[in-house]
Amino acid sequence: MTQTQKILVTGATGTVGRQVVAELLTRGHAVRALTRDAARAVLPDGVEIVEGDLTEPDSLAPAFEGVTGLHLITFGGPYFAPLESGPRILELARAGGVRRVTVLHGGGPSLLEDAVRADDGVDWTVLIPVEFMANALEWADSITASDEVHAPFVSRLSAMVHEGDIGAVAAVALTEEGHGGREYVITGPELLTVADKVAAIAGARGREISLVELTEEQAVAQWRAAGHSEEVIDFLLEAYGNTPEVGRTVVDTVEKVTGRPARTFAQWAAEHADAFAPAARAEQLTA
Ligand SMILES: NC(=O)c1ccc[n+]([C@@H]2O[C@H](COP(=O)([O-])OP(=O)(O)OC[C@H]3O[C@@H](n4cnc5c(N)ncnc54)[C@H](OP(=O)(O)O)[C@@H]3O)[C@@H](O)[C@H]2O)c1
Repeated sequence: MTQTQKILVTGATGTVGRQVVAELLTRGHAVRALTRDAARAVLPDGVEIVEGDLTEPDSLAPAFEGVTGLHLITFGGPYFAPLESGPRILELARAGGVRRVTVLHGGGPSLLEDAVRADDGVDWTVLIPVEFMANALEWADSITASDEVHAPFVSRLSAMVHEGDIGAVAAVALTEEGHGGREYVITGPELLTVADKVAAIAGARGREISLVELTEEQAVAQWRAAGHSEEVIDFLLEAYGNTPEVGRTVVDTVEKVTGRPARTFAQWAAEHADAFAPAARAEQLTA
C-alpha cells in the first residue's frame, strides 16, 4: 500500500489530465488541479482547484506549495503553442516540495521537457503516448447526423492508446519508486486501421456506419472547414499519411507499469457509445 501523496496536475481539465486526476484519486491520492479559469473547470469532488497560467510561471508558486508530485503539459495557449518557460517552473516546483515529475510529450521540441530531462533534483518520467483513442470523437457529429465517417488514409495502422491508460501510467510514475529518468512510449494493445475503428464504434452503438475515403485534398478542405490552423493540418497530414514507426508499434508499457493490460479500442467505443448514438446530436441541439 503506497502512502497518500498530494499531486499537482496541470492540463487537468483536458483529455489526458482529467484521466491523470481520476487515476490518482482511484489510488487514494490527493489531487490539486491547475486551470486558468476555476469557474469553468468541472472536476471530481474532492479535487482542490487552483488558478494559474503556465505561461506566467510566477503565478504558479502557491500551486506548488506542499505537493510531492507534478504532472506537466508542455503547451499553453492556442494551437498547443510550446511553453517558453522551463527552468523557472521546475525551480518553483522544487521549492514547493515536488520530488517527482511526469511530462506529457507534445510531439515536438519543448524547452520545458528539456528542462525536466536536465533536472537531477527530481525523479522525472517523460510520457510519450501515440494517437489518443479520444481522437475518434471528432467523428461523432457525422456519425450521429448521417451514420458516416469521412476520413483520409483509411488503411493506415495505428497503435492508438486509451487516454485512461496514459493517466494510469502517469499516476504510478508520480507516486511510486522506480520510474525516475525513464521515457515511456505508451500504446494500446493492438494495431487498427480506420476501418477497424469505425467497425468497433458501429458495434458499440448497434448501428452500421459507412466509411467514405477522402483524398488528401478533400481532407485538408474538411479540416480547414473545422477551423484547424494550417500548422495543425500539416501535422495531421504527416501523422496520418506517414505515421512514424513508433505510432504503429505495440509496446507493453501499460502492463509493465500498471500491472494490467492496455485497454482495447472496443472497450473505449463501448464506454463512449452514447456520443455516437443516433439521438445524441438531436439532444445536443436541443440542450
Ligand atoms: N491527440 C493525440 O492523439 C496526441 C497524441 C500524442 C500526444 N499528444 C499531445 O497531448 C497534448 C494535448 O493533451 P490533451 O489532449 O489532454 O489537451 P487538451 O484536452 O486540449 O487540454 C488542454 C489543457 O491544457 C490546459 N492549458 C492550456 N494552456 C494553459 C496555460 N497557459 N496554463 C495552464 N493550463 C493550460 C487547459 O487548462 P484550462 O483550459 O482549464 O486552463 C487544459 O486542461 C499535446 O501536447 C499533444 O501534442 C496528443
